[in-house]
Amino acid sequence: MLPVMCINALVGRPNTMAAQQKIVGVKGMNDLLPDQSGLWEWVEARVSEVFRQYGYRAIRTPILEPTALFVRGIGEVTDIVEKEMYTFTDALNGEQLTLRPENTAAVVRSVIEHNLLYDGPKRLWYVGPMFRHERPQRGRYRQFHQFGIEALGMPGPDIDGEQLVMIHRLWQSLRIDGDQAPRLELNSLGMLAERQAHRKALIEHFQSHASILDADAQRRLLTNPLRILDSKNPAMQPVIQSAPLLKDFLGDASRAHLDAVVETLERHGIAYTMNPRLVRGLDYYNLTVFEWVTDRLGAQGTICGGGRYDSLIEQMGGAPAPACGFAIGVERLIALLQEVAAPELPAALDVYVVHWGEASERAAMQVAEQCRSAGLRVQMHCGEASLKSQMKKADQSGAQCAVLMGEDERTQGVVTVKPLRAEGGLIQQDRVSMADAAAVICGLLKRRENKDG
Ligand code: HAM
Repeated sequence: MLPVMCINALVGRPNTMAAQQKIVGVKGMNDLLPDQSGLWEWVEARVSEVFRQYGYRAIRTPILEPTALFVRGIGEVTDIVEKEMYTFTDALNGEQLTLRPENTAAVVRSVIEHNLLYDGPKRLWYVGPMFRHERPQRGRYRQFHQFGIEALGMPGPDIDGEQLVMIHRLWQSLRIDGDQAPRLELNSLGMLAERQAHRKALIEHFQSHASILDADAQRRLLTNPLRILDSKNPAMQPVIQSAPLLKDFLGDASRAHLDAVVETLERHGIAYTMNPRLVRGLDYYNLTVFEWVTDRLGAQGTICGGGRYDSLIEQMGGAPAPACGFAIGVERLIALLQEVAAPELPAALDVYVVHWGEASERAAMQVAEQCRSAGLRVQMHCGEASLKSQMKKADQSGAQCAVLMGEDERTQGVVTVKPLRAEGGLIQQDRVSMADAAAVICGLLKRRENKDG
């Protein structure tokens, strides 16, 4: 443990309690506030349900991993590893650690460590925060969240196709339909030998135009020439456009794999575009790669990205096993929903309990517990306040109705149920026995739900 004096020095704090400065959050890392959390919960519930419908089971891995995991897994010459990782040495034991920038490498680490593939393939899903030190802008954050899927031990192409069908179902389940839904871009990165042949041709092509390459491209020429294709430098676009395409190097097996994925999409009526320049920013992919993109969110329009990574498990020290997966950016998905199809969320609270007088408070709490046992969401007023101010709080709470318990109600063994929302045409204010209150409110809310359809 560091002594207080040291901690103060470390955080630049004077050793007195004076000068209390406001501390603000880390740039590019957002708070999820209560007004937003309902929509996040709604999305999480739907996404996780679709994942379960396809037989995926949840996995949770730590947010911190050994740095070597990502360097080896994602690839040394990628933007993520070169410049975006939050990497530090643990001052307490000297370990090199990194806040996970993505979760595929970590899931693979866990699967190998716990020998999860010993009894056959596994279908795993996760949700959680990832960290990349990028320049923050709309849709691009330094802490962001992903829903992810990893199917391990399956060679495809059936599982590749099924994952795309599942993502399409997901948009529908979130009620993002038709031209509001992200569109699918697809490519094949082929197998290692095919990529090597393409790489050789690519290097020759770029070398023959060496004078046009910028410093970044020069640097990548021999380490990761594929990434040059991603460059947005206008001066380099002609040489990028005329570069040899990997699709012309694919052999029969790779073509057949891609054809089978495409055939699944067509059978399910899922529109797609072949994008021969789609390379993805992580090095572990082969064969199928895809992105789901929208034009509605400005520059950061990729909602979902993924593909096949058949060598990663072996490369990370496991017995060779093929795999395929994807991740969806939660912030971008939610931004799209807000843009095109924000759902009407159910009320966060059903009942607000108002009471006055000490004995009434105890009786009110008893009714509140009965209502909770019946499955209602109940907030009981805490602390002393006038009836008028409690009713105001009840109204602001968003609850569907207030339950009032005063001395009069308590001595008669009843509560007053008062509707708070006119739009449901819920109920007239009424007195019901304490014992019946929960059932009566449930019935009334149900009637309103049915009425609302
Ligand atoms: P990725 O393409 O790096 O893939 O990220 C997936 C998604 O995460 C992106 O399409 C985007 O929606 C979101 N995302 C990425 N960076 C940010 C950011 N800075 N701010 C907000 N959202 C962001 C992967 O991470 C792979 N692990 C996917 C995968 C799983 N491949 C196979 N299995």
